[in-house]
Amino acid sequence: MKYGKDFFDTYIERRGTRSIKWDGCNAKFGVDEGVEMLPMWIADMDFKAPDEVVEAVAERAAHGVYGYIINRPDSFPASIARWICCRYHWQAKEEWILFTPGVIPGFNISYQTFTQPGDGIIVQTPIYYPFMDGIRNNGRKMVVNQLVETDGYYTMNFEELEQLVKDPNNKILIMANPHNPTGRCWTAEELTRLGELCADNGVLLICDEIHADIIMEGAQHCSMGTLSKKILQNTIFHYAPSKTFNLAGLQTAYVVIPNDDIRAKFEAGLTANRIFNMNWFGQVALETAYDRCGDYVEGMCRYVSANMDYMVAYIQKNLPMLKVRKSEGTYMVWVDFRGTGMTTEEIEHFIAHKAHIGVDMGTWFGPGGEGWLRFNLACPRSLVEKAMAMLTRALYSKL
Ligand SMILES: Cc1ncc(COP(=O)(O)O)c(C=O)c1O
Repeated sequence: MKYGKDFFDTYIERRGTRSIKWDGCNAKFGVDEGVEMLPMWIADMDFKAPDEVVEAVAERAAHGVYGYIINRPDSFPASIARWICCRYHWQAKEEWILFTPGVIPGFNISYQTFTQPGDGIIVQTPIYYPFMDGIRNNGRKMVVNQLVETDGYYTMNFEELEQLVKDPNNKILIMANPHNPTGRCWTAEELTRLGELCADNGVLLICDEIHADIIMEGAQHCSMGTLSKKILQNTIFHYAPSKTFNLAGLQTAYVVIPNDDIRAKFEAGLTANRIFNMNWFGQVALETAYDRCGDYVEGMCRYVSANMDYMVAYIQKNLPMLKVRKSEGTYMVWVDFRGTGMTTEEIEHFIAHKAHIGVDMGTWFGPGGEGWLRFNLACPRSLVEKAMAMLTRALYSKL
């Protein structure tokens, strides 16, 4: 099998490549550059992109001229529409697709286009922090609808949400499915209730499904796009091949907006920011990945799922002060450190300065993240094993 265990077991040296995850790790956590840290933060993978993508990008690079390109070559939206149909099981019309240089820049276009300074944007924390950065940076009001945690399993607080969507000042709800950092794949029931609450109360729904391909064994992804016409007409969908195929540095993402009026306004927002020129390599990579690399996704998900099984079993057996549950989606795992007896501040200091592992700190994810840490498991098993050994040593010398 081309994208089997051997492919993902291979350690690729990333130090010295300007990788923010590896070369920027010590600086990020304020750890002396002489200390060898193991980076398991930020959401990119330590795996190579599919061979087909590497070859297509190399072929494009060999041409040597990297001028402006057609933003929307004919075949390109068709590749996306096919991917959405096969993978997420709904029909996205090609004309509903617009390109953005990343998912996050797309959120900011929506914040600027559909809200005024001071308007409320609802977020369900703990949540991937750039959702919140954009709200603050654009002078909008962050309205928190904190998720409910029971034994590491997260659900939505619909009672509170019902009140929040009725407030006419709250204009947008932004959510992730699968959810980062908790790894939840929301069910059709949860999504329908959320989608209808937004549609019925005039709250625009921004649904980020960037992790939709990364589903762990035994779990299922239900796309918000499969639910109803009413929800489709009130939703902006964000996708990218970047997480799935490790292409984040190519800055290529897209939105799918079924509602003509919302799409026209969003497009005007892109134009106002003069966002019209795609990345050469990103365009080639997306098309190649979507047309030819489905088997990579299956292999990668199987590998990461086994990494997660390993880590969860290891923690349950050896580190009883921690609590962890396997994620349903994303290659991240969200670990509860509150049982260590350390304060949140001590936990966040401990992991970087004592265990020397770079992770995403719980407090970055907003209310509800205190005492938790997010580990990125999109790496060879040998690194997960190394991390567990480093963590064990540090925890037992601490206690
Ligand atoms: C839920 C979610 N959305 C968006 C992004 C980033 O998207 P982009 O790099 O395209 O801005 C990430 C990256 O970790 C993510 O986890």
